Amino acid sequence: MIRLGVNIDHVATVRQARRASEPDPAAAAVLALLSGADGITVHLREDRRHIQERDVRLLRQVVTNRLNLELAAVDSIVALACEIRPEEATLVPERREELTTEGGLDVVVHQKIVAAAMKRLLDAGIEVSLFLDPDDRQIEIAKVLGARAVEIQTARYSEARGSERVKQLNLLKEAADFARQRGLHVHMGHGLNYDNVHDIVRIPGVEELNIGHSIVSRAVLVGMERAVREMKALL
Ligand code: PXP
Repeated sequence: MIRLGVNIDHVATVRQARRASEPDPAAAAVLALLSGADGITVHLREDRRHIQERDVRLLRQVVTNRLNLELAAVDSIVALACEIRPEEATLVPERREELTTEGGLDVVVHQKIVAAAMKRLLDAGIEVSLFLDPDDRQIEIAKVLGARAVEIQTARYSEARGSERVKQLNLLKEAADFARQRGLHVHMGHGLNYDNVHDIVRIPGVEELNIGHSIVSRAVLVGMERAVREMKALL
């Protein structure tokens, strides 16, 4: 069975819209876990637009199975990750102007910075995953750098329609295969929903999906427990 990491960033987005104290991502995490989530994923962005440092500290107390912290390879956030010690850290690229993470981390271009961040995380006993485009060159470097896993980004697949979607799905299959052959654990995420996840779960070797926006969107209408249970049933 594929692990479901529920990304609860957008619970915090609703809270931050009013700079209020609710809804609390920690409460959402508890409900998600009670409903079968295999882990909780959050992205502590440099601009703190949704998840705050306080949330990550609280989540560390609440999430007893798998806390996956997405972060940019930035000194202060890497230091915080090493202190809080999630089970997993996923390195992602970050640009302030973007609406959401727009593509994979370019580990070919940023190899040195990524290697330095990875060393600190690994020394702190944290598993490292790298969020990458479905590109063999990127996956090869991830292996060289000593990553345990790669999270292959599914954004382009999720946005594509018709024959382009088939093409993007094939790229994901090939990338998953390439990563597995190199002994990397294969995760996927970004833009996945209750509809487009069907083809993703059929890709051999995918071990973990990190899904946020679609689950939180459904949770607003039907409740977190049902939203998580319904996604879990598809995996
Ligand atoms: N995986 C990574 C690395 C991400 O950056 C995000 C978005 O924060 C997700 C998964 C979840 O994406 P979505 O909210 O579109 O499901």
